Amino acid sequence: MFDELSRKLESKVDKKLSSKSKKRQLGDGFKKGKTINEVLDKPTVMTLYKMIADHVISYVNGAVSAGKESVLFWGVDENKKDVALKIYLVGTSNFKKRESYITGDPRFSSLKKGTKNMVYLWAKKEFRNLLQCHEAGLPVPEPILVTNNVLIMNFIGTDGAPSKTLLGSQVDESDYLQSISLLQDLYQKAKLVHGDYSEYNIFKTDSRLVVFDLGSAVDLRHPNSHEFLKRDISNMTRFFSKRGIPVKDPDVVYGKITK
Ligand SMILES: Nc1ncnc2c1ncn2[C@@H]1O[C@H](COP(=O)(O)OP(=O)(O)OP(=O)(O)O)[C@@H](O)[C@H]1O
Ligand SMILES: [Mg+2]
Repeated sequence: MFDELSRKLESKVDKKLSSKSKKRQLGDGFKKGKTINEVLDKPTVMTLYKMIADHVISYVNGAVSAGKESVLFWGVDENKKDVALKIYLVGTSNFKKRESYITGDPRFSSLKKGTKNMVYLWAKKEFRNLLQCHEAGLPVPEPILVTNNVLIMNFIGTDGAPSKTLLGSQVDESDYLQSISLLQDLYQKAKLVHGDYSEYNIFKTDSRLVVFDLGSAVDLRHPNSHEFLKRDISNMTRFFSKRGIPVKDPDVVYGKITK
């Protein structure tokens, strides 16, 4: 059973990754065989199988994007609605640096050691951050379920193609203002600092900006939250000024968000 599902998924991933455009999108650090084996290790396939058996999803369509620490799959639920499955790679060593985004957050005070536990906790943290934002009415992919290293959320895009990020979009001053007001809502309404707020982690849909990749987001009480917020603001300042858009003084923005 596992082997069959695993084989099916692997061939889909293979097909997807062998297309030219996909290779371009995958970037440098990607090692094909390694990632496929890491994503589809037996426990991950088991988790996916359970999600199908529990009727949370009906099937997995294929890989959409592969990063160093996670792979994003396009799935479909029983109502034929598209969902995004973010599968965190358990075999990656990059989770060491993530520890500092968890230690100090009072929501995650008991920390079990070991990479696998850290990866599972990171997935749970992203889920919780998404939920906190969604409940506060912020534009994020709606979180559906997290089990082990697999997080399911609403798919932002059409027919398995994710919406464009700010990086790949035409942007104007209203996008800058919206991105700052989103940061402010994150801080004031969801009580979070994103921690990795950049043109790579914000979708520009037809109607609005949608922020995602919230694994790094920390509670305002985290000792480094203000340092992270300053970095988030400076990422926006840098990106929009590079595109020739008038930006505000980052200190003034910081003051307004934290007032
Ligand atoms: N909810 C979603 N709906 C559609 N596509 C998504 C969704 N979440 C993420 N993606 C796609 O997957 C890519 C990677 O997602 P994300 O940024 O959350 O992961 P990551 O671990 O930071 O990966 P990377 O290292 O590539 O940044 C995004 O750039 C986007 O194209
Ligand atoms: Mg990202």
